Amino acid sequence: MKSFWALRVHTNGDDVAAKLQQMTQDELTAGEVLIGVHYSSVNYKDALGATGKGKILRRSPLNAGIDAAGMVLESSDPRFQPGQKVIVTGCGIGENDDGGYAELIRVKASSVVPLPEGLTLKEAMILGTAGFTAALALSRMENNHQRPEMGPILVTGASGGVGSFAVQIFSQAGYDVHAVSGKHEAVRYLNTLGAKEVLTPADLQLGRRPLESVKYGGAVDNVGGGLLAQILAHTQLWGNVAAIGLADRAELNTTVMPFILRGVSLLGVSSNNTPMPLRQEIWRKLASEWKPRHLQQTLTRTVGLKDLMGAFDDLLHRRVHGRILVEIRSEE
Ligand SMILES: NC(=O)c1ccc[n+]([C@@H]2O[C@H](COP(=O)([O-])OP(=O)(O)OC[C@H]3O[C@@H](n4cnc5c(N)ncnc54)[C@H](OP(=O)(O)O)[C@@H]3O)[C@@H](O)[C@H]2O)c1
Repeated sequence: MKSFWALRVHTNGDDVAAKLQQMTQDELTAGEVLIGVHYSSVNYKDALGATGKGKILRRSPLNAGIDAAGMVLESSDPRFQPGQKVIVTGCGIGENDDGGYAELIRVKASSVVPLPEGLTLKEAMILGTAGFTAALALSRMENNHQRPEMGPILVTGASGGVGSFAVQIFSQAGYDVHAVSGKHEAVRYLNTLGAKEVLTPADLQLGRRPLESVKYGGAVDNVGGGLLAQILAHTQLWGNVAAIGLADRAELNTTVMPFILRGVSLLGVSSNNTPMPLRQEIWRKLASEWKPRHLQQTLTRTVGLKDLMGAFDDLLHRRVHGRILVEIRSEE
């Protein structure tokens, strides 16, 4: 049996070691669809998992990578044919099942999205879980009646993957976007993506009372913790705050005041567990009316499997803005 390369993570208690190694197809976790992976991407969760900074991988050994795009090689499910271009994001890959940092991946048919017209495999992975999540936030917020007239949308952790796409997708949808970034050097980048204002967390000057003056129509929050609590208190009547991430911290200490006096909604966003009909709808929109105009500028680095550990380190130390694409085999 032919062997192939994978970034395989070995966990032994608290010891986590990621190794670029060769393996064979019969070692892959089970599924109906075998895919030749062309591209993957680097997400915060990937960096946490492969370095052991977060407990993400649930079995050992396991190939890391929560995103993959490539070509179907074999399928026992009649919905997919060899040669078909497909995307898999989340759905437990790189966590419970072998992930996208490998030349081959075998996945459950229920997690496979046919590549929509309007996207290449490469574009799909520049977007990856980050783009999908930003679009899911817009979908959740608009379904809960968020409208541009309600005021600006604050995007935190704005220079990161989800943040960069939230800035673009919300501004393209007619919202004024205020981007919050700890990186002074990212101001020009975020303005180019469509941010009306770019601020540091200190510039925001948010209060700490249970209710504060209304400043934002809603927010997309990637950082959690104290900043999220403050944003809730400054959110407009009936505004929505999408809770995406925990780049600062997972804890949230707040009061019920924004919810009971202003009807503010704190919306959960779980890209991993998005049901298939909504998943396909979000990808269709990302390939058409919500396709970010500055997709290529959001791609700031392309790496191979062998460069991943350095990319994780840079991401976790906040030395990266935009997206890191993993090229495993170029498109055609
Ligand atoms: N809910 C979901 O389905 C879902 C999906 C994808 C990601 N996420 C989560 O969303 C967050 C962003 O993911 P990502 O892939 O976009 O990561 P990323 O590219 O690393 O972006 C994270 C951004 O957060 C900011 N940040 C980093 N460390 C911080 C800290 N200690 N305090 C405050 N801000 C900090 C930085 O932005 P600035 O330097 O510009 O401030 C960084 O660029 C992560 O927590 C991730 O786990 C959740």
